[in-house]
Amino acid sequence: MNRTIKFKPIGIIASGHTDPAKTPIQPVFARGCKGRLEVFPEYEQGLADIEGFSHILITYLFHRAGPPKLVVKPYLEDKQHGVFATRAPCRPNPLGISLVRLIKREGPVLYLDDLDILDDAPVLDIKPYISRFEVRDNARCGWQDDIDDTTAFRRGRRNYRGD
Ligand SMILES: C[S@@+](CC[C@H](N)C(=O)[O-])C[C@H]1O[C@@H](n2cnc3c(N)ncnc32)[C@H](O)[C@@H]1O
Repeated sequence: MNRTIKFKPIGIIASGHTDPAKTPIQPVFARGCKGRLEVFPEYEQGLADIEGFSHILITYLFHRAGPPKLVVKPYLEDKQHGVFATRAPCRPNPLGISLVRLIKREGPVLYLDDLDILDDAPVLDIKPYISRFEVRDNARCGWQDDIDDTTAFRRGRRNYRGD
């Protein structure tokens, strides 16, 4: 098996988020965090019909992640968990997935809201969000089920004010 995989970025994020500690920890806590995904010209044709979707899933490199760890303390809790039971950036393969709001498209540029992604993150893929495929009833959410919504919003928003 080939144990090295190479990917080419298809675009880049412009979010204005430069401080990881002040960046909301998930799109659901990032309302009003607007920015752009600038797709490189050679991939623009692949955006045809994306305008019909209100949300997209962006896969990107956590380009500013620290060294990988197998046990981490996530942002919403002060207990440790295996990294694969969290969304922490310091993973063996530092890939992020964010479900963000698509406001409009202008040629190769997608205008977005709900961004929890740092500025200049290289984008590896874009997929449309399709509720028929993604939504699951009665999902168990592990240690996250023990965190109430008020605490999750307070810690997840990280007092982001957009200034
Ligand atoms: C908890 S991660 C979740 C990201 C994504 N929604 C996911 O589930 O994969 C979000 C946090 O990662 C950090 N972050 C975002 N973009 C990053 C990047 N490109 N490199 C390193 N850290 C990043 C920020 O501190 C942000 O608050």
